[in-house]
Order: sequence, then structure tokens, then C-alpha cells
Amino acid sequence: MSIPTPHNSAKKGDIAKKVLMPGDPLRAKYIAETYLENPVCFNTVRNMFGYTGTYKGEQISVMGSGMGMPSMGIYSYELYNFYDVEKIIRIGSAGALQDDVSVMDVVIAMSACTDSNYASQYQLPGTFAPTASYELVARAVEVAKEQGTPVRVGSVVSSDAFYGDNPESSKAWRKMRVLCVEMECAALFMNAARAGKEALGILTISDHVFRDEAISAEARQTSFNRMMEIALGI
Ligand code: ADE
Repeated sequence: MSIPTPHNSAKKGDIAKKVLMPGDPLRAKYIAETYLENPVCFNTVRNMFGYTGTYKGEQISVMGSGMGMPSMGIYSYELYNFYDVEKIIRIGSAGALQDDVSVMDVVIAMSACTDSNYASQYQLPGTFAPTASYELVARAVEVAKEQGTPVRVGSVVSSDAFYGDNPESSKAWRKMRVLCVEMECAALFMNAARAGKEALGILTISDHVFRDEAISAEARQTSFNRMMEIALGI
């Protein structure tokens, strides 16, 4: 496959070595316009906006991943394998699974369990453990500490179904101490492993799977800003 790809109209050199990926492409636009200097849009295909700009002198890109592992799978694969991207940091939301994880908390995803069949493509003789880059996890923890933002570090689960039909499945992940559920990290970590690149997931808790907890618009923005500051500080 050559570039541009069917999903990304960027040319070689348009995208930075480090890419932040929110699920929502309009979030990518907002981040570029709010945090980056001189942002330039490199992709509008399917409205999956991507921008490159600078942050404190460093070139950084931000692009939407879409929702779910197939979408994250496509965009991150192309970034790593066709655009020479080295690091992708997913920034997103997740639903808490543990009693001691609450809305607004920030979670650093060290590993991503999954109910998806994504790993079957590798034809492995066992079960793959999708894992974040140790260097990025360590750096994120250090940056969070410097910024005074408490974080939880642990495993998350990337689910294929937002509206799952089996309430027992969340309870089963909870029993394994999985901190929260989201829908993209496992595909990102697998693509990074296969390409020999780095990946990380930083998540803010937007809801609790077992408690009736809502997040206000203001609280959502505050926790989003905290997550962004960690991602940009890495
Ligand atoms: N993202 C945010 N909340 C979620 C949930 N409850 N399940 C899956 N993905 C999510």
C-alpha cells in the first residue's frame, strides 16, 4: 500500500513522529486549535480530521481514531506503517469497573484485555497480551506527578460492544481487577507491537458501569484538560 491511503490524504512528511488520537475527530480539531501552534490540517477524508502543529517547539500531530477497534486499527496501522509515526497516544474516555475508580479519574492503560478477535490475524500459538510502551507509561506517570494529577495505572478492557447483551461480562472483567472499559486500546497496542513502535492510552472516566454516576460538562472539560496536559507533557 502506498500513500495517500484510502483513508488518509496526508503526504509523506505531513505527520509528526508523535500523534495524539482522540476517538472523536472534532476533538482532534479542538485540540489542534486550542493547544498547538500553527496547526495545519492534513486529512479530511471521512471527516477524520488530522492536524500537525507544534507544542513548546516540538512537532505533534493529532488525529481522530473513530470508535472501536476496526477504526482505530485502520488509522493507527497506516500511521505506523506508511507515515513513519513512532508514538501514538490514545486519549479518550472509559467506563469505570472498580469501586475505587470514579468519574473524572485519569487512568493510564498499561495493558488492554479484549473480547475482540483482532489478534487472530497474527495466528499466534497462544493468547497475546496487548501492552503499552513501558517508556511511555513511565513518562506519563512522571509527568502526572509533576502536574499534581493523581492517576491510576493498570489494565483496561477494549470491548467490541458498547451495548453488550451480557451484564455478566463486565462483572467478570471487574473480578480480574480491570480498571475500566473502553473500545480502542487493544487494537492500538497490537498494531504498535507488530510494527515495533510505541503506544499508550490515557483515559478519563466518563461513567461508572456499576453506579449511577454522571459527569457534568464542566467536570468533563476539567478531566479532559488534565489528560491532555499529561499527553502533551510526555
Ligand atoms: N467509553 C466510555 N464509557 C464507556 C463504556 N461504559 N463502555 C465502553 N466504552 C466506553
